[in-house]
Amino acid sequence: MNLKELAAHVAAEFQKKYGHPPRWIVAAPGRVNVIGEHTDYNDGFVLPMAIERYAVMAADSSSLSSSPSFSIYDTHFKEGATIDVSIPVTKGQPKWSNYIRGVIAGFQNRGQKIPALDVAFMSTVPLGGGLSSSAALEVCTATLIEAATGRNIDPVEKVLLAQKAEHDFAGMPCGIMDQFISALGREGHLLLLDCRSCQTELVPMNDPSVTILIINTNVKHELTGSEWPTRRRQSEAAAKALGVPSLRDATSETLERAKEKMDEVIFRRARHVIGEIERTVHAARDIRASDWISAGRLMYASHASLRDDYEVSCKELDTVVEIAGAIGHKGGVYGCRMTGGGFGGCAVALVKTDAVDAITKKIAADYKIKTGIEAAIFSSRPASGATIIKG
Ligand code: GLA
Repeated sequence: MNLKELAAHVAAEFQKKYGHPPRWIVAAPGRVNVIGEHTDYNDGFVLPMAIERYAVMAADSSSLSSSPSFSIYDTHFKEGATIDVSIPVTKGQPKWSNYIRGVIAGFQNRGQKIPALDVAFMSTVPLGGGLSSSAALEVCTATLIEAATGRNIDPVEKVLLAQKAEHDFAGMPCGIMDQFISALGREGHLLLLDCRSCQTELVPMNDPSVTILIINTNVKHELTGSEWPTRRRQSEAAAKALGVPSLRDATSETLERAKEKMDEVIFRRARHVIGEIERTVHAARDIRASDWISAGRLMYASHASLRDDYEVSCKELDTVVEIAGAIGHKGGVYGCRMTGGGFGGCAVALVKTDAVDAITKKIAADYKIKTGIEAAIFSSRPASGATIIKG
């Protein structure tokens, strides 16, 4: 379903549920990170793009004037949540409503009165696939509140508000990348984001001869477990041992010099982050210059580093990357790597457009043979960030 069809579908579901057409329709995309993994919370660079998979909300002022509630209905899972917005919003049930609750609380903390709304929503961002389905939901909620109140907030503040919702209401101490790209992605572009200054540079990615392929291992990733926060703590410990505010301020040379003073695991974690920040800046340069071979090489190097030094890959992700590597340039694959937090989820590949079908078939078949699992593979052009479709 493209965005137009999805919006029409959610509007029709709204009509079915509430008996009249919606006044507002908003959308926010998921994302795939091309390179720059586990660098955002180290003040480094990331290079994500918004994908053509979205959370969409259709809404109108609540028909029940007596109840000051934000009533939200998930049209796919056929489940609703009612959030009383006349009091400070706290965590609650169902679990997914916390992404929405967290954003509402963020607006309340800014002194914003939240209108009572009836909402229908649906998301086509795969859940647990490492494509930021939660950031899409958070940014979509923030965009809906902007539309319904007629008040836009500063874009970076909006991103920070959505990130805080993830920290405080979902218990995931994520970096800034996911909410940033969901809010501020631009069609036809990757976004080179400096996570220290929040400055961005658009990197055009509209050469029709290359395509971004997303390969979902269908192994669910769960980032609220202990591994992801542990990586964040280890990065911070490495920066401390190096005497710098964050690993952004360290270099391969300063790290090598401090090697003897550091725990071996902490050393490898830092080596990944420092190398990945450099690779990300180089990859952005390569993509600008349409040097796909060099960009692809950096993607493979990123994967190896995430697998061996940062240890956030898994057998299935490694299998996808090996299959892609075996297809090679001749078969149309420039590069491939795990994307997102890791421990399952998706791989991203940079491939020749005219070989997409053959590559898709080959990866799906070999992956099934080697793991017994069906992968879900799709391509996406770089999409636009959050949008108000109606209202
Ligand atoms: C998750 C987090 C992001 C980022 C990635 C790893 O997706 O939400 O902030 O840290 O992991 O790059």
